[in-house]
Amino acid sequence: MKPFPHSSLEETIHQRRTVKPRDFSGETIPQAEIQALLEAANWAPTHGYTEPWRFVVFTGSALARLGTFLAQQDQPDPAADNFNAVRYQKLASRPTQASHVIGIGAHLGENPKIPEQEELSAVAMAVQNIWLTAHARGLAGYWSSGALAYTEATRRFLGLAEGDRSLGFFYLGYPAKEPPRGRRLSGIDDKVTWHYE
Ligand SMILES: Cc1cc2nc3c(=O)[nH]c(=O)nc-3n(C[C@H](O)[C@H](O)[C@H](O)COP(=O)(O)O)c2cc1C
Repeated sequence: MKPFPHSSLEETIHQRRTVKPRDFSGETIPQAEIQALLEAANWAPTHGYTEPWRFVVFTGSALARLGTFLAQQDQPDPAADNFNAVRYQKLASRPTQASHVIGIGAHLGENPKIPEQEELSAVAMAVQNIWLTAHARGLAGYWSSGALAYTEATRRFLGLAEGDRSLGFFYLGYPAKEPPRGRRLSGIDDKVTWHYE
């Protein structure tokens, strides 16, 4: 299904959704679109121009390679008594349902004035830029984290420098259907304290 264009930034923010790879159409996103998402990411703010986001893009047959890596990391021993072939296959095939999967990395520098928390915050802002830009362009996205995202093996697989952090994978595709309605468990008023004097 092709773009659901959005007229304003606020509409885009409200309507952006998590769309899982099983709800992607299977179509491939043109490289220029992916490049536009990455350019948007690069405009996220940082403390001290550290620009700590690192992205590793998988597409084509690299998606199956990524899937095999994830499934093997999850269950390294196919001869194990409790080996779950269905789970293995599900993990292995998930990236292949996407057009592109972007490995998300945070480069942690040596500047003691910029704590890790700030670099992780900046990377999350960069990912939000990707997500919102994708939605505005009629693309669907999903940030997958979980235990496998944060391992040393994943950091190495992504080719991130030692000491850098892997923060998971951003799945991209075209939505096969209208994205779901969003929900929040509570309104913003439950999360804000105002001080007037
Ligand atoms: C840092 C981060 C990690 C996430 N990891 C997962 C994940 O591993 N699995 C998952 O189903 N959703 C994951 N999500 C998506 C959330 O579940 C989703 O954003 C939330 O349910 C709200 O839905 P919405 O994005 O449609 O508003 C992640 C979101 C963020 C911001």
